[in-house]
Order: sequence, then C-alpha cells, then structure tokens
Amino acid sequence: MENFNFYSPTEFVFGMGRESECGEYVKKHGGHKVLLHYGGGSAVRSGLLDRVKESFEKSGVGYCELGGVQPNPRDTLVYKGIELCRCEGADMIVAVGGGSVIDSAKAIAAGVPYEGDFWDFYSGKAPEKALPVGVVLTIAAAGSEGSPDSVITKEEGMLKRGTGADILRPKFSILDPELTQTLPPYQTACGATDIMAHVFERYFTNTKDVEITDRLCEAVLLTMVKETPRVISDPDDYQARANIMWAGMVAHNNIVGVGRQQDWNSHGLEHELSGLYDCAHGAGLAVIMPAWMEFVYKHDIMRFCQMATRVFSCDMDYACPENTAYEGIRCFRNFLHSIGMPINFQELGAREEDIPVLVEKLGIGSGKRAGFVELSSEDAAEIYRIAAHAEL
Ligand code: NZQ
Ligand code: ZN
Repeated sequence: MENFNFYSPTEFVFGMGRESECGEYVKKHGGHKVLLHYGGGSAVRSGLLDRVKESFEKSGVGYCELGGVQPNPRDTLVYKGIELCRCEGADMIVAVGGGSVIDSAKAIAAGVPYEGDFWDFYSGKAPEKALPVGVVLTIAAAGSEGSPDSVITKEEGMLKRGTGADILRPKFSILDPELTQTLPPYQTACGATDIMAHVFERYFTNTKDVEITDRLCEAVLLTMVKETPRVISDPDDYQARANIMWAGMVAHNNIVGVGRQQDWNSHGLEHELSGLYDCAHGAGLAVIMPAWMEFVYKHDIMRFCQMATRVFSCDMDYACPENTAYEGIRCFRNFLHSIGMPINFQELGAREEDIPVLVEKLGIGSGKRAGFVELSSEDAAEIYRIAAHAEL
C-alpha cells in the first residue's frame, strides 16, 4: 500500500425527508444568502425545490435562484451564476440535483472569488478559494456530493474538462433516497454504471497488497449487482435506493481508492464521447469500460480473475485463467445490457467515423497516458474500435 492522506470533511445528512433540514445546515455552515442552483425541471415538478425554499424561509436564510443546468453542464451557465452571486452577494451555493448541478455549483463557487476566467481551473490551474457548497442530491451516480471534483463542458467546441481540489468538497450533502424514486429507469441505470465505473477505475491497479481497499471495492460492486435490478424492477424500493445512494458516495469520495495507483482512462475516453455526442456519462461508460477491460486484461489476468470470481461468481478455470478473466468482462457487459445500458457505438448513438476526432480531443498526441496500462493515441483508438463493435 502507498502512503496517503484522506480528507473528507463533508457532513452527510442521510435519510427520508431530511431535505426539510436544508436551511438549518446552510446556517450551521455559515451561509446567510444562498444561490439555489438546480437543473432542467425534475426538482420543480417533484415539489422538492419548494420544500427546500420553505426550509430556507423557516431558518431565515435568504436566497436567489438559477435553474437550467443541463446534463453535461455548460460553461455559459457558470458565467451567469458567477455574475448572479456577485450581484446578489451570495455567500453559499446550494445545488439541488445530480452531478451536473453539483459540478456547475462547484464551478461557480470557485469562480466567484477569482478575478480571472473560471475556465482556468479546467485548464490545469488549481482553485485556491471557493464559496462553500451544500447539496441536496437527487440521483445516485457521479458521487460529486462527496468528491473534490467538477466536470464542465465548454460550449464552444464541446470540450469537457475537469478540475479537483479539496476546497470544492461540499460542506454538507443531504441524501434522501426517496428523492431518487422519480428517476426514469434509464437514468437509474446510467447512475449505477457510473458508480461501478468509479470503483473499477480504482480496482484495476498495479499496487500490491491493497487487500482492504480491494475488499471495500468488491463490497460496493456486489451491492450494485444485487440492488440495481431491484430498483429497475421496482423504482419505489426505498431500501434498495438507500443502498445504492450510499454506494454512490462511497464509490467516489476515495475511501475505496486510497493507498493505491488508480486508472482514470475509461473516464477520459468517455468524457470525449459525452462531450461530442452529449450522451449520458453513465451510458458512455457502459460502452467504454468493458472495451477498455478487453484491451488491458492480459496485463494482469489474475486481477481480472479476482473480479470475475468475487464479483460475478464465475468459476475459476485453473487450467486457463485467461478464460475466467474474459468471462468476468463478459458478465459485466451482460449485466450492463440487462439493466438497459447501450453496449456499442450504435446503441449509444456514436459513430465509428468519429474515432480520429475523439482521439484528437483526448490530447495524448505522441505521448502516453499513465494508468494500469499506459495508453498511446493508437491504443485509445483501438479501445474506441472495440467499443464500436462490441456484442454480447
Ligand atoms: O435536470 P433535471 O430535470 O433535474 O433532470 C436530470 C437530468 O436530466 C435527471 N434527474 C436527476 N434527478 C432526478 C432526475 N429526474 C427525475 N427524478 C430525479 N430525482 O437526471 C438527468 C441526469 O442528471 P445529471 O446530474 O446529469 O446526472 P449525474 O449525476 O450522472 O451527473 C453527470 C455529470 O457528472 C459528471 C459527468 O461527467 C456528468 O457531466 N461527473 C462528475 C464527477 C464528479 N464531480 O466527481 C465524477 C463523475 O465521474 C462524472 O464525470
Ligand atoms: Zn463517472
């Protein structure tokens, strides 16, 4: 295991109806005037936004509001949010929504105290100051409610880029599983895929002797394999929703990834897909992640066998471990298909002819991207080709 620091200061407020306490948590974390930030309408339709406003009024918290965050959130709305916060004197941002709304809130939070263009933070500069962010989560997926990360798409050129800094971790995150019951099955499945991908990006490592984090990773994966079909068949299954919601947080606040080398190449490859086609991040991952696995599994067959036997209960083929490793990947792709995810470019709405564009946008050039297996531009193109043609 490698040396590490683990700093995860977010206060998690978990359970049914807890959004009614939002105003109290704003006050507790020093907010007086809030920018209430939300998405395209689900929080309005469900009445959640009104309940959050009511809690502000009860607690004497002032607010202004900015809705309209799109999935794959855009820089253009971030600029509006920064302006609005400055005009209104907002001292905290409360995101009501999923990863897109939270990431947009984090971008605004970093942009308000910064004199330059907030996009600098998505071009390599680390933010040093930010307004505090609070969250009312409505979808278990991106894990932004507990992560230091934010991913924004620059509308000009549809360039999707991320930043990360501990000051961007939310001060508090309210997680009410009941709020996720209105999710359409497709979004539920996209979220489940993203959660599993966040674990796999940590699981496939070259670091030895990481038994504790291996086992934590497997616990999250096993939970997702068990609970996702339950919520797909019964969207109102509160207990299954509750397990998935906490799994989404655990998968990405890095408790399962400390002390080990990680590999974020599937996410990198996916971000170019959702940047170019504006598809759901989880759907893009469903196409990319098994393709990446097929490309790299020979690098460490026994690690893939571990995944196959422990997560998907495959029988170990001692005479030919490669068969078991490959079977694990097949089980993963079948699982994604069974929950309604696309498995190849055609099902995703992507085009094989665009592979050179995707590779160009990845920006590996003539170098290599670090990871479990280092990737060249040609390797990335091959993974996209495997993804383009994948079958069950
Ligand atoms: O906009 P509304 O109307 O709310 O609809 C949303 C949106 O269309 C809908 N939705 C959310 N909660 C709902 C609901 N519909 C009905 N009932 C509810 N309770 O779901 C759709 C997707 O929402 P979005 O926020 O985009 O989903 P997700 O949480 O998957 O976030 C995806 C974004 O997060 C980024 C992704 O790249 C993508 O841009 N990521 C952020 C990370 C981070 N900050 O740590 C890490 C991830 O790897 C990821 O890259
Ligand atoms: Zn993700």
